[in-house]
Amino acid sequence: MTTLPLRIRITAWYFAVLATGFSLFGVIAFYAMRGSIHETVDENLQDQIQGVRELIERTSGKAELEHELEQDEEIRAGSDLLQVSDPAGNWIYRSRTMALYGPPAPRETRTSITTLQSNGVPLRVLTLPVQAGGKIYIVQLAYPLDDFYEALARFRRVLFLSSPLLLLLASAGGYWLSRRALAPVDQITREARSISAQNLSSRLLVPHTGDELQRLSETLNGMLARLEQAFRRITQFTADASHELRTPVALMRTRAEVVLRRPRSEEEYRETLRQILEDLQRTSSLIENLMLLARVDSGTEALQRTPINMVESVGEACLEGRTLAETKQISFLEELPESPVWIEGESNSLRRLFLILLDNAVKYTPPQGRITVSLRSSDGCAVTEVRDTGIGIAAEDLPHIFERFFRADRARSRETGGAGLGLSIGQWIAQAHGGTIRAFSKPGEGSLFQVRIPLAGEGEKAVSSRQ
Ligand SMILES: Nc1ncnc2c1ncn2[C@@H]1O[C@H](COP(=O)(O)OP(=O)(O)OP(=O)(O)O)[C@@H](O)[C@H]1O
Ligand SMILES: [Mg+2]
Repeated sequence: MTTLPLRIRITAWYFAVLATGFSLFGVIAFYAMRGSIHETVDENLQDQIQGVRELIERTSGKAELEHELEQDEEIRAGSDLLQVSDPAGNWIYRSRTMALYGPPAPRETRTSITTLQSNGVPLRVLTLPVQAGGKIYIVQLAYPLDDFYEALARFRRVLFLSSPLLLLLASAGGYWLSRRALAPVDQITREARSISAQNLSSRLLVPHTGDELQRLSETLNGMLARLEQAFRRITQFTADASHELRTPVALMRTRAEVVLRRPRSEEEYRETLRQILEDLQRTSSLIENLMLLARVDSGTEALQRTPINMVESVGEACLEGRTLAETKQISFLEELPESPVWIEGESNSLRRLFLILLDNAVKYTPPQGRITVSLRSSDGCAVTEVRDTGIGIAAEDLPHIFERFFRADRARSRETGGAGLGLSIGQWIAQAHGGTIRAFSKPGEGSLFQVRIPLAGEGEKAVSSRQ
């Protein structure tokens, strides 16, 4: 089903509401006018009939009554639509005009007021029984309503003729107004349609009207800014990733080409293959890191968290760290508590996080240096610290070390084979555990990396204390 444009729908609603309003107004106005005509006429009839009643009550017999009614000037002048009968329906008096209209003698002897058609003329008739000289007379006084009803009919005609015209005019006005009000929406639609990946930096024009449309354009612009940022990050990531992959592949190719240039001894082939294998190992770990970050970006990398004793988890990572440190003559110290420290986490990811920190500490600490790993619980968190006496990080680099592909000293890192992804992965792991990671450093003196992860049960406690 195709939906009509909004402005047509608004106009249709407007038309429907207006048409209902007009009809109601017409019906109410018509009946109110008719009611007020009847009321005025009835009041007049009531006033006039009092005179007749007094006259009847003064007389003593039928003959005298007939005579009085014929003679009375006042009655003849004011009430020319008068008729008097006895309960049997015999006329005692009938004015000339009344005889002309010819309404029948009343059958009932109750006081009543009705509208009846007599010889094609609508008459308002007031009937009143009057007692005089032991007899009952039925007096009827009437008023012709034809002039009033004609005026009413004219009013109805005017309503019928002018309503469609007014409705048409009002709907046209409504259509024009809704078109005008919705024109900026059309413009926003046109502008938004012209924005694509190629010109994500362009923004919608914001009308400074302080209304919903200004808020809509500002919101859309905010969304565009976020999209642009995300898009930039992705393109930057792709560019950096391909650059990082190109270097080791080129290196391996050169090694193979050089060795194949002329016949070599078995030892030389063996050495080259060993070097290529080393490059391959580094490249596959790089690819693994890139894939992990891609999964993080697409939101598909989720952790399966279970209760974990951090003492064990950090201790296991330290086993590997110690081996790494010893090969570089770096002393390795562990300060782990005796009692377990429980958190909700995923052991593989946590191991990876601590190894990233330990790998860095070993990489950026010269021989004879010292690495200290400590664990404690404080403020509802398991706090793990990796401290080294290495080269440290310059103050201007410190805010960037968690960025992807960031390396403080590109030349040195190339030697040590780092791509600058370790800490950004580490930061994601800490955050995915609801925790944080922070770095403190003094160039030449060493660095301290601190990981805080909420203790098991702390998450629920925080939620329930907020409620
Ligand atoms: N303990 C540390 N001492 C001194 N500098 C450090 C330390 N840890 C990290 N850095 C600096 O931060 C940068 C980013 O670290 P990160 O672990 O993300 O990358 P990387 O170690 O260079 O490469 P990768 O971890 O991907 O192999 C490093 O290049 C280094 O300059
Ligand atoms: Mg690293």
